[in-house]
Parts: sequence; structure tokens; C-alpha cells
Amino acid sequence: MIKDSAITIAPETKLRDGSSSRPNSRKVFIKTYGCQMNVYDSIRMSDALAGDGYEQTEDMEEADLVLLNTCHIREKAAEKVYSALGRLRDMKKRKAADGREMMIGVTGCVAQAEGEEILRRAPAVDVVIGPQTYHRLPEALRRAQQGQRVVDTEYAIEDKFEHLPSAEKSKIKARGVTAFLTVQEGCDKFCTFCVVPYTRGSEVSRSVAQIVDEALKLVDGGVREITLLGQNVNAWHGKGPRGEEWSLGDLLYRLAEIPGLARLRYTTSHPRDMDDRLIGAHRDLRTLMPYLHLPVQSGSNRILKAMNRRHTTAEYLALIAKIRAARPDIALSGDFIVGFPGETDQDFEDTLRLVEDVAYAQAFSFKYSTRPGTPGAELKDQVPEEIKAQRLERLQALLLKQQHEFAETCVGKVVDVLLEKPGRMPGQIIGRSPWLQSVNVDAKASQIGDIINVRITGTSTNSLFGEVVQVSDTQRSSTA
Ligand code: SAH
Ligand code: SF4
Ligand code: F3S
Repeated sequence: MIKDSAITIAPETKLRDGSSSRPNSRKVFIKTYGCQMNVYDSIRMSDALAGDGYEQTEDMEEADLVLLNTCHIREKAAEKVYSALGRLRDMKKRKAADGREMMIGVTGCVAQAEGEEILRRAPAVDVVIGPQTYHRLPEALRRAQQGQRVVDTEYAIEDKFEHLPSAEKSKIKARGVTAFLTVQEGCDKFCTFCVVPYTRGSEVSRSVAQIVDEALKLVDGGVREITLLGQNVNAWHGKGPRGEEWSLGDLLYRLAEIPGLARLRYTTSHPRDMDDRLIGAHRDLRTLMPYLHLPVQSGSNRILKAMNRRHTTAEYLALIAKIRAARPDIALSGDFIVGFPGETDQDFEDTLRLVEDVAYAQAFSFKYSTRPGTPGAELKDQVPEEIKAQRLERLQALLLKQQHEFAETCVGKVVDVLLEKPGRMPGQIIGRSPWLQSVNVDAKASQIGDIINVRITGTSTNSLFGEVVQVSDTQRSSTA
């Protein structure tokens, strides 16, 4: 799931000793592009910079440092970075004319992919730091302040998470009741369309101890729902307390024991890594939400093979049947690419048929974007843009229809809703259903963090409406 959004983290000014100003207080504005892993990384970078007196701001105008945490997944995503850098160059000049210095840093997947090239194309940039080395960002900025432009995109030998500071409790609290926690990074799958194995490197799993420690800190800071993240999150593996091999399923059983942690989710999964232990966790753990993002990309076996997905549509459908047998109320989500090289009308029809067969609750779909350096870019039969656009329109219409149908099935049901934040209307709170839908409900701000019973009364394009009810456990449609 990829969004293009600026993260908003309430700026925190309190110091450990309780005083409210910092020596050398400076402000950092972070713009986050791409996936949830980048959102998580932006938070970790912001915490790393806090040690050097940087406070987060949502106003670029007052920033002493602007970081673009970038995404390279499709051509458009990467292009956005260069146009943003053009605007930043002008802002930097304008501020310099007023005697104010503003540094510019590029982090994330474009930084990793382009490295030095960014400094060449964008002379206003001071530092370029890849996703494996952002724990060195404060050091790079210190060097940049002495006039040295820094590029650090090597794959660090040290574990960056061991070198990153944890967030202060007050900061965790300010960030809300849901949180991301990266447990796995990188990808060894090499789908022929995808840059991730090149930008994020090979698969690495964080240790159970590190993950549990971070989860405990989040829960201590008021977090009720944790989403475990990884480019291939279900490829996570580690060692249990007796040195036994653990897969993601085992990790979820362990995390579900944490008192106060009400909800667990994980994303993004690869169909080939859905093992029985993980499916068992969906059956056994009420804490594990009944929602699974399981991208298939295409419904044509020929295209799946060309994409190097290493499974067939029949295997994907059999897997879904098994997951649904374990957790009948599970909602499925997916990613699709239309117009992969060589995709015929028939291949595309096969994708539509697979979508009909699965009935997704939500899904993301994209036109194939040629990425230099990936095997897909070398393939002959590139599909014309207008065909890609037509196919995308048809696919999205079907997916949207399914999303609405799924939402309609919720109307009249009583569901558990985690209250997350104030809504747009006074007295309204936005919560989340077990199936990741936004739910608007009248409740008190003091109830944020509570899980309450809500009867769903209606739907709109992207959210549900509901009213608070008191029901006994036996009447519930889902527990959390
Ligand atoms: N690891 C995840 C996906 C990570 S990338 C998985 O294997 O499912 C997120 C999504 O971006 C992919 O699922 C795919 O649908 C889309 N994507 C990746 N590369 C793309 C490309 N070159 N063109 C269009 N969409 C792409
Ligand atoms: Fe990309 Fe495929 Fe790896 Fe997903 S599994 S990150 S699509 S290479
Ligand atoms: Fe984009 Fe990198 Fe995530 S390419 S999708 S930010 S892993």
C-alpha cells in the first residue's frame, strides 16, 4: 500500500529533565513519500535528530532542515522528488538572502538508487542518505554544516536499529494509539518489475528481543494497535527463547501476550511466505485483526511467470481458501499491476476473473512503470500507455465496486472500533474497524484509545458511519 503524504507528528518540545526548550533548538520538516516503511523510517529519523536539538515542524517555511524521504517504486514517484528539489532550491536561496540557513537532505529509496546523481542534478542538496544508513544522518548533517556534501548509501554492516535512539514516552503518546513497527527489511524475491531488492537490499529480520522491546515501549506510551512492517513481512524469521526457529506466526503469538496491546496487524505479505503457523495465528489470535494484504499482481499464469512471482493463480486461490477456512471473517486486500510487458487482453481478462473469484475488501492497482535496472525494463512487448489506462480504469471500477459491497455487508452489524483521533465535526471521533475501515462515530475525546462497540449505520466512499451501542459479548460480530 503506497501513499504520498507528509507525516504529521506533533512537535514535542519537552526535554528529558522536564524543561521545555532545547539548546540550539532547530526545526526539521520531513516529507514522506512511498510506503509505510518510509513513514516508520521518518519517525525514527525524527527521533535520531531530536538528540541534536531538532524539533519537528509541519511548516516548511520555518525549517532549518528539510528532509525528503523518497520512494522509487514508479517513475512518477521518483520524478516528484526532483520537482520538489527544484522548489526547495528556490526556498533555500530566499532564506539565505534573509540570512537564514536551510539544509536539504534526501533519504529513502531514491537516495539509495541515485546516490551521487542527486548531488549532480540538485546542487542545493546537502546530504543523501540511503535507508540502511539513516542512523548516521545526524553525523552527516554535522559534516554538511562544515561545508561537506555527504552521500552515504552503502549497506551498513552495523545494525542501524542498535544505533537509533528510542522515542521518549511523551513523543509516543503524542503520535497516537496506533503505531508501525518494522520487523523485516529488504527483499530477495526479485519480481521482474520491482526496484525494492535494489533499493532496500536483501532480506534482514530484526531480533525477537529488539521487536518485543520496541512493542513494550509503544504500549507503555499508550499504543493499542501495532502494525508490523516489512517489504516481505511474512519472510520474517528469528529465534525463540530456546533457540528454536520462529516464523512471523510465532512472533505474533509472542506479541499477543503483551498486556494492553489490543490489536496486531502486519503488512506486506508475499503469498509464498504464508506458512501454516501464520495461518494458525489468524485462527487463534483475537488480537490479530481479520485483515490481510496479500498482493497477487496479476491473474494470468503467463504474466505471473514473467513477473517471477513464483506461484500460479490456482495456488493463490487455494491459499486464500485455506486462510478463509481458518478465519472466515477475514477481509482481503491486494495490489495489481496492469500492462506488464506482454500482457494481452486475455491476460487482463484473467486478472478480472481472479478479482471476481476473490472478492477483495480493498485493493491498490497501478499501471506498470518501467524501472531502469529491473529485468522488466529489458522486455520487448511493452504495452502502450492508452491500453494500460483503459485496463486500469476497468480494474479500478471492479475493485471499487467490491470495496463498496464489502462496506455494505458491515451495515447493521455491531463491530469493535478502536477510537483513534478527533473527526472533522465537533463531537465526532474517527476510529478503525477490525477490517481497517475508518469509522465516524460520536464519542468523547477522552475515549480515544478505547475499543468500543459500534453499530454500523451507513457508508461513504472511504469510510463507515456508526453509533455507539452497549452489547454483550455474544452479540458481537468480531472481537478485538
Ligand atoms: N513486497 C510487496 C510489494 C511492495 S511494492 C509484494 O511483493 O507484494 C508495492 C506495490 O507496488 C507492488 O505490490 C506492486 O503492485 C507495485 N509496484 C511495484 N513495482 C511496480 C512497477 N514497476 N510498476 C507499477 N507498480 C509497481
Ligand atoms: Fe518487490 Fe516482489 Fe520484493 Fe514485493 S516481493 S518487494 S514486489 S521484488
Ligand atoms: Fe517506495 Fe522504497 Fe517503499 S521504493 S514503496 S519507499 S520500499
